[in-house]
Amino acid sequence: MKITVVQNYAELSAGAAEYIAAVVADRPNATLGLATGNSPLGCYKLLCEYCARGDISFAHVTTLNLDEYVGLTADNADSYAYFMRKNLFDNIDIDPRNTHIPNGVAPSLQQECARYARLVGALPRAVQLLGIGVNGHIGFNEPGTPLNSVTHAVQLSYDTICANAAHFGGSATRVPTRAITMGIGEIMSAERILLIASGSAKAQAVKDAVRGDISPLCPASVLQTHADCTFIVDEQAASLL
Ligand code: GLP
Repeated sequence: MKITVVQNYAELSAGAAEYIAAVVADRPNATLGLATGNSPLGCYKLLCEYCARGDISFAHVTTLNLDEYVGLTADNADSYAYFMRKNLFDNIDIDPRNTHIPNGVAPSLQQECARYARLVGALPRAVQLLGIGVNGHIGFNEPGTPLNSVTHAVQLSYDTICANAAHFGGSATRVPTRAITMGIGEIMSAERILLIASGSAKAQAVKDAVRGDISPLCPASVLQTHADCTFIVDEQAASLL
């Protein structure tokens, strides 16, 4: 595990964008595992700028997102599908047919999870970008999830619902209570993993992930066993290391 501590969110975003741009420059047809949330926003903004400048092309890139809320359609402004289009896909030269995200309104969640798991198996990721939840979750794999899990539907924890309420006008009651997430075993199957974390609210989760026991109680702790895992964290998120 490589830990890079940077001063602030701007430096974290630049580090993550440069990391991903280097992967794409090296392998223009790479599959990228992508994440949502505030953590990758700055990174995505920079990738859009690199692409607009002609420094990088996503024309042959495929993407696989980690997760989606159950019950939100892709055109719902709170869905992760919408987030990805607005913050990345609509502003780069990627073919939308090569962008994948679980369908939160599939008639059968079980079949949708099986379909997505097949896709994850068929598209080896050159890198998986991750944020981290305040409770140590990765994707929507909440504490207690088996470390070898595959794509599945989850009940979100109260902690996660409260943490994500800010994206729903501050109202926890508006946050969907279920989601579909790539499993921990699938996250671990990416060739490289890049986790980014910013702010003091993430300090305990980062400490548990980096220094704690490898345990389902902190899903991100499993990353200690990955052969090529990098954390880029700002000083506040690193404050308990
Ligand atoms: C959500 C997402 C995670 C993300 C986490 C942290 O729960 N499912 O993939 O890592 O939030 O989000 P943020 O980056 O906004 O702190």
